Amino acid sequence: MSKVFESTMINGMDLNNRFVRSATWEGMATDDGSCTPKLIETMVRLAEGGVGLIITGHAYVTREGQAGPWQLGIYDDRLLNGLHQMTDAVHGAGGKIVAQLAHSGVFADPALTGSNPIGPSAIRGVSKHEIREMTSSDIEHVKSDFSRAAKRAMLAGFDGVQLHAAHGYLLSQFLSPYFNQRKDGYGGPIEGRVRIVLEVLEGIRSQVGDAYPVLIKINTRDFIEGGQELDDAVTAAAELAGNGLDAVELSGGTGLSGKLNPVRTGIREESDEAYFRDAAVAFRERRTLR
Ligand SMILES: Cc1cc2nc3c(=O)[nH]c(=O)nc-3n(C[C@H](O)[C@H](O)[C@H](O)COP(=O)(O)O)c2cc1C
Repeated sequence: MSKVFESTMINGMDLNNRFVRSATWEGMATDDGSCTPKLIETMVRLAEGGVGLIITGHAYVTREGQAGPWQLGIYDDRLLNGLHQMTDAVHGAGGKIVAQLAHSGVFADPALTGSNPIGPSAIRGVSKHEIREMTSSDIEHVKSDFSRAAKRAMLAGFDGVQLHAAHGYLLSQFLSPYFNQRKDGYGGPIEGRVRIVLEVLEGIRSQVGDAYPVLIKINTRDFIEGGQELDDAVTAAAELAGNGLDAVELSGGTGLSGKLNPVRTGIREESDEAYFRDAAVAFRERRTLR
């Protein structure tokens, strides 16, 4: 039998099989990011379908990180009740569910957030809005937003959390030399660009302890000139894996990557599938994947 049907475990989280429903924005939350019966029903149907692990659509950890409308929020304790209903329902249907924690950085939508987007650098040409380069105080705020959101996820009964560090969102922007042109300790070579992600992970661990699954979704490549390349992605993942990360999901592309954007289309033959297979080998060789 194919290995994908075999059970596995990620830091104490038992999974019946290795099928994962990758995070997918459903557009089913309310205007303020609250969970709805429709969203819960969708998650229950996924669990009933037998997928080993469900990852929620990207949930914004702070209002200023919201990317799109009707996106799930995890930025405030008053959202806990709805989130708890979601995890209870999924568990009742025999499923496992992880919350994807996200901040959209330069791609935040000011019409929703009420403020200009922030990012590692005030680069031009990627947003209609003027981007503000993050100060060290912004970095501290974002770290605290992620760790508080992770704590909420745990309290709401999620089986773990996944950091969204792919697709050109905030943590991916820091990893990418295209978006990150900082001259301080959060920029430069990959050791500097991964620093905020390591500190976010450290902050989360201080809130949820060691026995709680923390995953990451990371770009193998940005597929933009001057963007993140495979070597740096592997180095970042290895660094994170050595500092308490439990699993890595590979992805790639950004909204600026043309045909190689994160929503790949035109997959018509088996040979078009598993397009990150070669990249996965590189991650495995550095023992970042289990
Ligand atoms: C409608 C839609 C919404 C998506 N929302 C998210 C999301 O919230 N978080 C995320 O990490 N990826 C999101 N994705 C990307 C998918 O999870 C996945 O990464 C993508 O389909 C490509 O698969 P790959 O990562 O294996 O290349 C979304 C894709 C689609 C089509």
